[in-house]
Amino acid sequence: MGISIGMVGMGWFGISFVRLFRDHPLIDRIALCDLDKDRLDWASKEFQITETYNSLEDICKSDIQALVIITQPWLHAPQAVQAMQAGKHVYSAVPVVYLPDGQQMLDWCDKVVQTSEKTGMHYMMGETSHYRAPSMYCRRRAAEGAFGHIALAEGNYMHDIDLPASSLREVAQHRWGLQWDISKSGDIPMYYPTHSIGGFLSAIKAHVTEVSCMGQQVPGDDWHRPDTIFANPFGNETAMFRLSNGAVARICEYRKIGHLGHEGFSLYGTEGSFVEGPAGCHWVTKKDSTPLTVEQMRDPLPPEVDEAYRKTAKSQADKDIYGGHGGSHAYLANEFVQAVAADRPPAVNAWQAVRYLVPGIIAHESAKRGGELLKVPDWGDCPC
Ligand SMILES: NC(=O)c1ccc[n+]([C@@H]2O[C@H](COP(=O)([O-])OP(=O)(O)OC[C@H]3O[C@@H](n4cnc5c(N)ncnc54)[C@H](O)[C@@H]3O)[C@@H](O)[C@H]2O)c1
Repeated sequence: MGISIGMVGMGWFGISFVRLFRDHPLIDRIALCDLDKDRLDWASKEFQITETYNSLEDICKSDIQALVIITQPWLHAPQAVQAMQAGKHVYSAVPVVYLPDGQQMLDWCDKVVQTSEKTGMHYMMGETSHYRAPSMYCRRRAAEGAFGHIALAEGNYMHDIDLPASSLREVAQHRWGLQWDISKSGDIPMYYPTHSIGGFLSAIKAHVTEVSCMGQQVPGDDWHRPDTIFANPFGNETAMFRLSNGAVARICEYRKIGHLGHEGFSLYGTEGSFVEGPAGCHWVTKKDSTPLTVEQMRDPLPPEVDEAYRKTAKSQADKDIYGGHGGSHAYLANEFVQAVAADRPPAVNAWQAVRYLVPGIIAHESAKRGGELLKVPDWGDCPC
């Protein structure tokens, strides 16, 4: 027998997942939910889904097994806790939570982990970088021991606030403006580190233990200012991490950068390295360098899932079959559905999810203290 899923949040990002959940062969029943009636009506009609709810409170009262929460980032953790307490497994968009106050974010990380443990409900953070093709490839190579000992990881999330293809200023005005006066914006780059950390950390199977971070106040930056609710002058932040296996990682979270935009990582080991650059992805050893295609790097989806997604895709182009963010959307949906159906923790469970976020929260604290080396708290491995 299949499972039942409710999708909460029919914004631009939420609707990009509806087809992938609706068409998954293990889903028997799907419902949609949004506070905004127009958005809900549009999605219901567009995806031909008749079961709808007007609020999280209402859908929590239903007998649906699992909720996919793709709402505003400051709501993720409180809503995930509410849903788990109502007996639902939860998928949440990234990050676990995003607030102007780092200590409050740490408290919410703790609550999400504790609630998942206490209720026995599975929590998954929908980290796209975990399911990009390079991450899948590096997980396989790391499992074979092909890297030898990891020496260095380098992760980047370079997304200028005014990038023409995806303006974070506009996203903030549309999303944050609902909660906080937009003139007070200027969010903290390191409070959203999951895209630069998730890929390599998933391959290494280690976690961050210490951090030193430098912040850059870019001259003329009208967005990142000390007089905002975030009290943050740094448009660019660069962190050095010590990992639990002795390796070192460096991440760049840059929001003031003359670049088309880049999300990715390189991973250097004593026997082999994965290098991502302008010339694409390569496996590099002391003897040679081998280019890698997306098809070579990506794991296959289960054949019945792949077939189902191909059937309803608007074309057979990868982006239409697998969805956005490097085709990660299909893998995210599949992982959550398989985990709920098998009653097992998803790969990016609550314990792993906080490992992708907390190093950035502490990194920003280090940047505020001029790069002081700080310990990074850890909630341990998933006990399940
Ligand atoms: N690479 C990535 O992983 C990635 C990319 C883009 C967006 N995101 C995340 O996706 C999330 C959603 O983005 P968006 O642009 O669709 O946002 P949005 O603000 O357009 O949509 C959020 C929707 O959630 C609904 N909502 C909020 N509280 C609700 C409640 N209690 N009950 C029912 N509905 C509720 C709102 O009415 C709104 O329609 C954000 O948190 C963002 O960080 C992640």
